[in-house]
Amino acid sequence: MTKQFDVLVIGAGPGGYIAAIRAVQLGFSVACCEFNPYDSPDGEPRLGGTCLNAGCIPLKALVASSEAFENVSHHYANHGINVSDVTIDILRMQKRKEDIVTRMTSGIGFLFRKNKITLLKGRASFAGRTEVGIRVTIRENHEEEEVVAQKVIIATGSKPRQIPNVKVDNSTICDNDGALKFTQAPKKLGVIGAGVIGLELGSVWRRLGAEVTILEVMPSFLGSADESISREASKLFQKQGLHIKLGVRIGQAKITGEGVSVAYTDDQGADHLLDCDKLIVSVGRVPNTEQLNLEAVGLQTDERGFIPVNAQCATAAPGIYAIGDVVRGPMLAHKAEDEGVMVAELLAGQKPHVNYDTMPWVIYTTPEIAWVGKTEQQLRAEGRDYKSGQCPFAANGRALGLGDAQGFIKMLADAGTDEILGVHIIGTSASDLIAEAALAMEFRAASEDIARTCHPHPSLSEVMREAALAIDNRALNL
Ligand code: FAD
Ligand code: NAI
Repeated sequence: MTKQFDVLVIGAGPGGYIAAIRAVQLGFSVACCEFNPYDSPDGEPRLGGTCLNAGCIPLKALVASSEAFENVSHHYANHGINVSDVTIDILRMQKRKEDIVTRMTSGIGFLFRKNKITLLKGRASFAGRTEVGIRVTIRENHEEEEVVAQKVIIATGSKPRQIPNVKVDNSTICDNDGALKFTQAPKKLGVIGAGVIGLELGSVWRRLGAEVTILEVMPSFLGSADESISREASKLFQKQGLHIKLGVRIGQAKITGEGVSVAYTDDQGADHLLDCDKLIVSVGRVPNTEQLNLEAVGLQTDERGFIPVNAQCATAAPGIYAIGDVVRGPMLAHKAEDEGVMVAELLAGQKPHVNYDTMPWVIYTTPEIAWVGKTEQQLRAEGRDYKSGQCPFAANGRALGLGDAQGFIKMLADAGTDEILGVHIIGTSASDLIAEAALAMEFRAASEDIARTCHPHPSLSEVMREAALAIDNRALNL
């Protein structure tokens, strides 16, 4: 007999698995379909999508290991801790990363069982619609099963974008998947794309000893960040030894006996060859839709391959929603999760919404970069009258004590109402500090609200308060 569910979620990444759990909490019978694109020791699908298997979680494990190595090698001597002959066992580091991934992905398996979510193993594609519901075929190997659901949430995520003449083999020329699995630090690493992945992975392998060259097509560095943050980041990263070349055009990448040779033209029009042992291609990601057979339910993708949705993630087909990387908006795990919760609550008759204006961004470099809200250049372009306050971490005792006092926090507020419009951080623990700013903006707080809130001393959060005070020229420690 055909299995029937109230809600079928396609894809068990952060968008899909969170949507499934919230839908169960709201009383629906829920199935989630996932195939197995990742190496799984037992053949079972590894849940958690890109985020847990080949994205956020493994990458942050490598960030932590490589930062620890760099600290012991270069920074602990300043504390009076002398360690000689520091070495790194990359295989051990990778094993630690794998253990974290396994723990997290099996944790989601546990959550599925706890919440009685039916896991359908295989690849889903639409088969049409009857009066009973939406028909979806699940295919695994040569087996095929049809299920029917009243509502379907598409959460199929994204995959790396490819560029012509640079063929990824995930051995020498790698996307994020291969670049997370190097078994030794390359001597020379090339990276195409100075975006989030390029900077995070480039920094990991630089800390572990690689000479890293990043080739970026755009003439400016980190264009989506506030310009003062991009300037500071560029200065600090170059000082660390990341070679970043802007305004380049990539030609052919050829595998050679020793590695790979990439032809590129620089911003002056001169031709070059970059020889390296490994090359990472990180030029953005594209949505996963090609095998969904969207036409069977009357849907098609837009010109960039995304599934068109409205503000509440409803597609043009009744009862079918799409969330996360497969739809417009930033490709971030927390965005996918929030959209998953929103859709589940919408199906239950609630009136949820996602506030895209207070969604934080983080880049896990050293130091970290994080922001929420508008950049100064956006406010200028909008002709908005705003005030700005800034405080360096170097003025903070806790940052100095930690030996991590690079960077600053900048706050932007409306010149008339004092409402916080944007907060931009480059500095240690920016990923955690930004949460205060996101919360403040969600409550539409004024900079005065943060300035008058007692913050713990000594703590990095005092830098946020000083930035708020600086808006009104009354910083106390500057
Ligand atoms: P995904 O996580 O891609 O999950 C989609 C799932 O659907 C996959 O498991 C896939 O197998 C499955 N699927 C696809 N098609 C089908 C089908 N037809 N049938 C069944 N199943 C299907 N974001 C952050 O917020 N913070 C970070 O620090 C961060 N770091 C990242 C680092 C890297 C290297 C990368 C690549 C990404 C990173 N991201 C980060 C982005 C984040 O991983 C994605 O935004 C997030 O995973 C998107 O979630 P999703 O549920 O939409 O899709
Ligand atoms: P990205 O969009 O961040 O950066 C891609 C970069 O490649 C851009 O700077 C772009 O100008 C450049 N580029 C594009 N085509 C090029 C070409 N032909 N030659 C040279 N440069 C070229 O994409 P990335 O780094 O691949 O990451 C994909 C997504 O994954 C991100 O947009 C982000 O949403 C997510 N992610 C999030 C992280 C986080 O939240 N910390 C970490 C890693 C990824």
